[in-house]
Amino acid sequence: MEVLRRVSVAPVAVPHRAIVDVSIMGYFIPKDTSMLINLRSLHMDKDYWGDPEAFRPERFIDAAGQLKKDPENFLPFGTGRRRCMAESLARATLFMFISSLLLNFKFTPCPEAELPDCIEGRDGVTLTPLPYRGFVTPR
Ligand code: HEM
Repeated sequence: MEVLRRVSVAPVAVPHRAIVDVSIMGYFIPKDTSMLINLRSLHMDKDYWGDPEAFRPERFIDAAGQLKKDPENFLPFGTGRRRCMAESLARATLFMFISSLLLNFKFTPCPEAELPDCIEGRDGVTLTPLPYRGFVTPR
């Protein structure tokens, strides 16, 4: 969950169209307006998260060590009827992929090459990391 928040794989949800005139928080949106919802801004909201730049998986774990339910500012798969239809597949795959990599390999940065700024990314439909060099060693 912290990977999904911090990275915002899909920084912007797919375009949606207002099917009726609507007012949201004082903003009037006429029928047929195309809207892009900025999910990354929710995930990096300083007022909500306090230290959004920090990678802290424990934000999602309660005092009893259990996973909290999704906080309101956490929408990596969008929301509503058109939210990502592969959410459970993506969540399970990410968990298995990352946990098996960390279980089987040690990742260390390359001493001669600086790591890119983690805040930056290469934007497209999805946000991908900038190139970096490191060592991947079997455990
Ligand atoms: C980490 C992985 C993924 C993330 C973060 C992600 C995120 C999203 C987001 C934000 C949307 C837009 C929701 C909205 O507009 O409210 C979306 C839509 C969608 N995603 Fe994903 N997605 C992921 C993986 C996948 C995969 C693996 C598939 C297919 C196997 C998939 C299929 C779709 C489809 C078909 C839609 C359009 C749903 C609709 O418009 O009704 N996604 N996804």
